[in-house]
Amino acid sequence: MQRITILRPGGREQLQLETIADLQPGPGEVRVAVAAIGVNFADIAIRLGLYESAKKFVGWPITPGFETAGVIDAIGDGAQGDLAAQGLGVGSQVIAVSRFFGYASQVVVPVAHLVPLPLGWTLAQGAAFPVAWLTAWYGLHHLAQARAGDRVLVHSAAGGVGQALVQLAVAQGCRVLGTVGSQAKVATVQALGAERVVVRASGQLWPAVAQWAPDGVDIILDANGLETLAQGYKHLAAAGRLVVYGHASMLDRGGGKTPLWRLAWRWLRTPRWNPLDMTTTNKSVLAFNLSFLFDKTAVLREAMAFLLARVASGQAQPIPVTEFPLAQVADAHLALESGATIGKLVLRV
Ligand SMILES: NC(=O)c1ccc[n+]([C@@H]2O[C@H](COP(=O)([O-])OP(=O)(O)OC[C@H]3O[C@@H](n4cnc5c(N)ncnc54)[C@H](OP(=O)(O)O)[C@@H]3O)[C@@H](O)[C@H]2O)c1
Repeated sequence: MQRITILRPGGREQLQLETIADLQPGPGEVRVAVAAIGVNFADIAIRLGLYESAKKFVGWPITPGFETAGVIDAIGDGAQGDLAAQGLGVGSQVIAVSRFFGYASQVVVPVAHLVPLPLGWTLAQGAAFPVAWLTAWYGLHHLAQARAGDRVLVHSAAGGVGQALVQLAVAQGCRVLGTVGSQAKVATVQALGAERVVVRASGQLWPAVAQWAPDGVDIILDANGLETLAQGYKHLAAAGRLVVYGHASMLDRGGGKTPLWRLAWRWLRTPRWNPLDMTTTNKSVLAFNLSFLFDKTAVLREAMAFLLARVASGQAQPIPVTEFPLAQVADAHLALESGATIGKLVLRV
């Protein structure tokens, strides 16, 4: 099998393609012959050595990758019954989540980390499904408890997680304002049903938010970090929830390594909130990281059931994908680091 290995933290030259012996599924596990792999912004943080759970669960060297799609080609002892209960067996097309190791032509996962590929979806669309949608579900539904009529602000709304968030919020009956980094992304977010789309760089963002929601915003989904957190909190309505799930603006756009002093400076300027003030102002800040949730099988199952029902009803449409061959993974990272991509990037095996 082939996989991408990063020997040590660094630039895109660290993404090395290597050939190793085939994997064998252990008890309760299944092997998937991978056809497509979802690329995530977190993979860049992993490569740069800035991703905590990569250090905690794997260390170096590491093969990144949280999501794949392909065909089941080997079944470990004791896994047959659970697979059959889902109508799956050797030859079934599936989507798999794994805590790392996804940038590979084979993955081995427990049955609980597999779902069938939705009818009519391509394997590339399937590989782009789990991380963006699980993240969106966890932030919007599990933590923020979105209800019909809520005013929801989604940052980076044309990206992978952003598009899933807009679709879920619209399906829930929320009113959505999306922000994007450039004019080229506006039409995509409008087409998903957002009421307003604002280009952040225009300097018009917060006046536009105040005009759109004069009493404040009920829910904000923010993976920018420093760039937008302080103003976001300020623009929350009473009982509003600011959900933080990333810090993309810590890194310089365009890729390469952000100098350590600049990272430290941005870290120092990241807002901190006082619980005493928060009780008085009646606003919450919530935060999470999906990779710490992989062992929570019940939550994963609940999330997947919810999301697959949305897919079946047509309320969750596949996010558009741009494909790169696995050997050109460095080009995919370069594209994602540019901040210019729309939808998801997928590696083709
Ligand atoms: N907590 C979790 O478990 C979890 C899970 C999945 C993803 N995430 C986070 O969610 C965010 C979106 O992830 P994604 O994989 O779906 O990526 P994405 O949104 O498809 O792409 C990243 C987008 O972030 C924006 N951005 C802001 N600052 C940037 C910078 N310095 N460099 C490059 N882009 C920058 C750009 O969009 P605009 O310029 O249009 O804003 C860019 O297109 C990331 O921050 C990621 O780390 C967190």
